[in-house]
Amino acid sequence: MLKEKILELKKSGEFVILAHNYQIPEIQEIADFRGDSLELCRISQSIDAKYIVFCGVDFMAETAAILNPDKTVLIPDETSRCPMAGMLPAEKIREARKKYPEAAVVVYVNTLAEAKAEADITCTSANSVKVVNSLEENTILFGPDKNLAWYTQQHTDKRIIPLPEFGHCRVHEFLITKKDILKMKKEHPDALVLIHPECLPEVQKMADYICSTSQMLKRATEGEEFIVGTEKDMCYRLSSEFPEKKFYCIEKAVCTNMKKHTLPKVYSVMKKKDKIVRVDPEIAERARRAIEKMLALK
Ligand code: 13P
Ligand code: SF4
Repeated sequence: MLKEKILELKKSGEFVILAHNYQIPEIQEIADFRGDSLELCRISQSIDAKYIVFCGVDFMAETAAILNPDKTVLIPDETSRCPMAGMLPAEKIREARKKYPEAAVVVYVNTLAEAKAEADITCTSANSVKVVNSLEENTILFGPDKNLAWYTQQHTDKRIIPLPEFGHCRVHEFLITKKDILKMKKEHPDALVLIHPECLPEVQKMADYICSTSQMLKRATEGEEFIVGTEKDMCYRLSSEFPEKKFYCIEKAVCTNMKKHTLPKVYSVMKKKDKIVRVDPEIAERARRAIEKMLALK
């Protein structure tokens, strides 16, 4: 079986498999580490293996490559892209800096390396408030997710300007609606509602807790039943950690890009050591500064 073959290849000690919490169950099962984007950034730096097999979308694999120039990052399917990351080209940041010279630029890790290279610091959905409040500037250009920008604005006195104005994740914006959550609340009146900050403000307002995917795992200790307002396979991660609890997900909330990685593709990159993630060294150097500034915040 393919799973056994992959585990056999791992015995060489050359590979570490990282998987985002939205990966299909079969991939989550063979991963050495699972996590949200912040955890995967940190883990990538602490592992001792020549090859990182990264099961996540492009910007996550790029971030691992930027942080680990001495390792080789392999991505099982190179077409696994986050459409939101493409919504903030570097040129847009340069233009906005001219318009708001007094502002700091904070970019979500869901951006391409060229955008990170233009930023003062990166953030994730787990630490956006901490990142913004750590800055001296009172005006913050924040992109590309307008909903995470809205969430962050609720927790800071600084002025947050979304960049671009309408950047969003189509899974969280269109597939997790107020109607969906209302229906689930009716079906499961005792469940706690966990919502990702990439959802629309009207959906975030229905949450008991607004959380990144790693924060959802922490909140799962606080109840027995949960409505999970994020990509559907987060429920697999939660159920595998807390098999005795109930997690209700939104079946249609699927990030098709995350699902492009499969066991045959993982096995293939491990055998061939191809599909190497490459980032232009000059861009990587500038992007690394912005990511490391975030990672230095405790
Ligand atoms: P997390 O950092 O919460 O895992 O979010 C990443 C992401 O892509 C959410 O859609
Ligand atoms: Fe990008 Fe949305 Fe998929 Fe996350 S769920 S990787 S933000 S498209």
